[in-house]
Amino acid sequence: MDSKTIRDKFIKFFVEKNHKEIAPAKLVPENDPTTLLTSSGMQQLVPYLLGEKHPAGKRLVNSQPCFRAEDIEEVGDNRHTTFFEMLGNWSLGDYFKEDQLKWFWEFLTKELGLPKEKLYISVFEGDGNIPKDEESYEVWKSLGVPENHIFFYGVEKNWWSRSGPPNNMPAGEIGGPDSEVFYEFTQIEHNKKFGDRCHPNCNCGRFSEIGNSVFIQYQKKDDGTLRELSQKSVDFGGGLERLTAATLDHPDIFQTDLYQPIIDAIVELIGKEYEENKSAMQVLADHLKAATFMIVNEVEPSNKLQGYVLRRLLRRAAIKLRHLNKEIPLNSLALLIRIIRAIYEGLFGAIKEKEVNFLEGVVKNEMDRFSKTLDHGLKEIEKIEKIDGKIAFDLYQTFGFPYEVTEELFRQKGQQVDKEQFRAEFEKHRELSRTASAGIFKGGLADQSEVVTKYHTATHLLHQALRDVLGPGVFQQGSNITAERLRFDFSYDKKMTDEEIKKVEDIINQRIKQDLKVDHLIVPLEKAKEMNAIGLFDEKYADKVSIYGVGPGYNLDEDAKDKRIRGGYYSLEFCGGPHVEHTAFIGKIKIAKEEAVSSGMRRIRAQIV
Ligand code: GLY
Repeated sequence: MDSKTIRDKFIKFFVEKNHKEIAPAKLVPENDPTTLLTSSGMQQLVPYLLGEKHPAGKRLVNSQPCFRAEDIEEVGDNRHTTFFEMLGNWSLGDYFKEDQLKWFWEFLTKELGLPKEKLYISVFEGDGNIPKDEESYEVWKSLGVPENHIFFYGVEKNWWSRSGPPNNMPAGEIGGPDSEVFYEFTQIEHNKKFGDRCHPNCNCGRFSEIGNSVFIQYQKKDDGTLRELSQKSVDFGGGLERLTAATLDHPDIFQTDLYQPIIDAIVELIGKEYEENKSAMQVLADHLKAATFMIVNEVEPSNKLQGYVLRRLLRRAAIKLRHLNKEIPLNSLALLIRIIRAIYEGLFGAIKEKEVNFLEGVVKNEMDRFSKTLDHGLKEIEKIEKIDGKIAFDLYQTFGFPYEVTEELFRQKGQQVDKEQFRAEFEKHRELSRTASAGIFKGGLADQSEVVTKYHTATHLLHQALRDVLGPGVFQQGSNITAERLRFDFSYDKKMTDEEIKKVEDIINQRIKQDLKVDHLIVPLEKAKEMNAIGLFDEKYADKVSIYGVGPGYNLDEDAKDKRIRGGYYSLEFCGGPHVEHTAFIGKIKIAKEEAVSSGMRRIRAQIV
């Protein structure tokens, strides 16, 4: 089956079971500095998994583009990628294990027609106070899965939260036991390198996980223990790339329609066969796809946050290209963007034809810059007498040379690099970056949420104040909040005057001083439109919508250029929240900078002072 058929079937299957299709979240979360990139479909649903009411109801479904930086080193085999599309369905305190497992089984065996004998199941074996998942085991058996196809594993394999097993979960994080389904590619012989016995979680490649039903039942408490949530939810995620490969009974996801055109273009560019160069070509295909989606989501290569992830992807791709064929200029990888665009035509706010030149420009620039660093790095290597593992790691860190490239270069020089030493350095570094990202995560949830919420409400006030001063042509184009500042992009074609900036700032601070109340309303789309709510929403998904209103009882300013009544509110926007309850919580806002982003688009940075 092709990926489109599977995606459509999945959505239809769950819509027929009374689920509402919801819009996928942006790859770069807008108002959530706690996470760099969207890595699962449940990310936008955390407040609802904790019990808040979702405007679309208790049963949801969608397909979510995801990025997982922690998998970057795994790419280069038949089934790992950094970027992937996750099919998801959710029960927010509605149905639980029995319906979830029964429906997913029906989807796999009836809708996709996968042969039952090739499907294997994993179930949680229990850990400490958290009991063994007997219920899921019984459900699988009642569905006709033979006992020898059901395997029990512990927290390392059958527990899911965004930060892994319970010990790694920061306070406030939710998660629970899960049950996974694996497809067996019988044409792949087990490799003893991965253990004597093959089993669903063996890494030899014979088994591929195609779906994970997580039972969100627990939240980590401040004291490090887990508390049971009063609402029991289901969070299902299944990788579309792997499901497609399973329907083809072909173990290589890079040979499905989601990658084959990219691989074909790489083969043509490099002039070598895929069969002999699989791993390097898989890295190129994955990294360029992930990079394309990041640049579409306004990430630019840099040494910080998302920008650094993008830079790493492009550099790793560059090294692989050099390795495959020295003659090809690095910037020719930009050619792949058009192919990637065609694969996702019509999906995820599709890449527009006019955007392609811009995207190619970003990749070309970065590649041209790196080309110089790379040549410099190669010269440095020439000078080094003996490369030990530590130097190999420094080369990896400084110039982005993966170990295997360094190893290959010294094999040519007749040297043997100490892989163990490289590994040790690498692990040390990985531990550090894990701690660093856990830091973002933990700091985010525990300490930053309050200030972020303030900035979020301030952003709504800024949006309306800009319209008051500059006119209703002003419209939000992007928003990004950290604990230190807000950044707001909007449509406007002139530089703002100092007076205009001052006026906007004064209006915001006046609204803050008035201590306006913030209301959360869930209303039918028509009603929200009637009330003149502003902001982004997608008609395709809208039925009931969530809107936030600031300031009941506000009388329109005589001078305001945007004089529309917004159901009696000063600001009224389509938004998922969260927000402060009263504007006085925000404090005082100072606009720090106003600048151009591109033609017709301006950017404001503002801080709470
Ligand atoms: N949210 C479930 C998963 O990522 O597997």
